[in-house]
Amino acid sequence: METVTLSAGTPEETRDAVTEAVTLLNKGSIVALPTETVYGLAANAFNAEACTAIFEAKERPSFDPLIVHVSGKKMLDSIVNIPPDIEETVDILIREFWPGPLTMVLPKKNIIPDIVTAGLQTVAVRRSKNPIFSEIIKELDLPLAAPSANIFGSMSPTSATAVHTELSNRIPLIIDGGACSDGVESTIIRIESTERPKPNFHLLRPGPVTVEMLKKFGKILRGQDSQSENERPNSPGQLASHYSPRTPLRIVNCPENFKADPSKSYALLSYRGQEKDGYLSIHDWKEIQILSPGSGKLPEAAVRFFFSLRKLDESGADEIIAEPIPGKGVGLAILDRLQRAAL
Ligand code: TXA
Ligand code: MG
Repeated sequence: METVTLSAGTPEETRDAVTEAVTLLNKGSIVALPTETVYGLAANAFNAEACTAIFEAKERPSFDPLIVHVSGKKMLDSIVNIPPDIEETVDILIREFWPGPLTMVLPKKNIIPDIVTAGLQTVAVRRSKNPIFSEIIKELDLPLAAPSANIFGSMSPTSATAVHTELSNRIPLIIDGGACSDGVESTIIRIESTERPKPNFHLLRPGPVTVEMLKKFGKILRGQDSQSENERPNSPGQLASHYSPRTPLRIVNCPENFKADPSKSYALLSYRGQEKDGYLSIHDWKEIQILSPGSGKLPEAAVRFFFSLRKLDESGADEIIAEPIPGKGVGLAILDRLQRAAL
């Protein structure tokens, strides 16, 4: 199958791209679309056959559930049953963070096919703030199942070119909406009501909506604390090895600890790219990518993260060496992806 890429730069191009995407999605096709986090591979969430095609194109195991995107509260209410004890919290989170990169895991209605949720009785839902995505879902007026548009286990694509590298000849259409503005996948939480004034938020995946932003509204539980008995520890994007480049990747916490093997070539993933951090000068790197040149700003680092990792992967180096990144704000999400890429 030949993959067509339609650019959505000018208003006219965007109109044509939206029309083509809506036509294909209505016919039960899968289409790669830009979101603010990473590119998604979308299908009508009510159409089990279309959703099966997502799993096939991505070579994704059927036990890994998909995120479903909605256009607003009305569409949300048509696919989930929000338990009364967390209703107020869900409303607050929608007001604060939607449209945007916050995904909530909620009890699903039967209208969502089992394949979408890998048999779970819950569904992960979010509302994207990307204007092209928003226009498509509004016009289509159907929820869109859309995982990241990459082969399972590989790096998420943050540009149309990266989607093409991952999925060309497997999907009919890519809508090119430029680079993603957040750069890492959405934050995923499950909400649990408590006796206390604040609910518990089980952080299933850190992302652009940070712990610091969420903790005003609930108590954040992570890691072991966040697994309930009926959540399969291995399914939800929490697979240890994920987001991986083909080239082996190692996080080196102190420059002094890096000992080069003279028979190997190395590429560097630097956070700030500053000489005083010591990483630039310890080796004659085959390729260097700097996540946040000079300023050391985490959101900038997030936007560049998957892009830089792809560049390093393409450099032909035998190993990628990564500097540590501060684990605060969206840095926690970058570090999470980096640690999984290193396994
Ligand atoms: O930013 C994003 O979330 C992007 C864009 C395209 O929206 N999507 C994305 O989807 O990252 P994906 O499939 O690559 O990651 C979705 C993850 C799954 O791996 C799983 O961990 C979690 O969402 N998930 C989905 N349904 C779940 C459920 N019912 N319970 C717990 N986790 C769930
Ligand atoms: Mg993914």
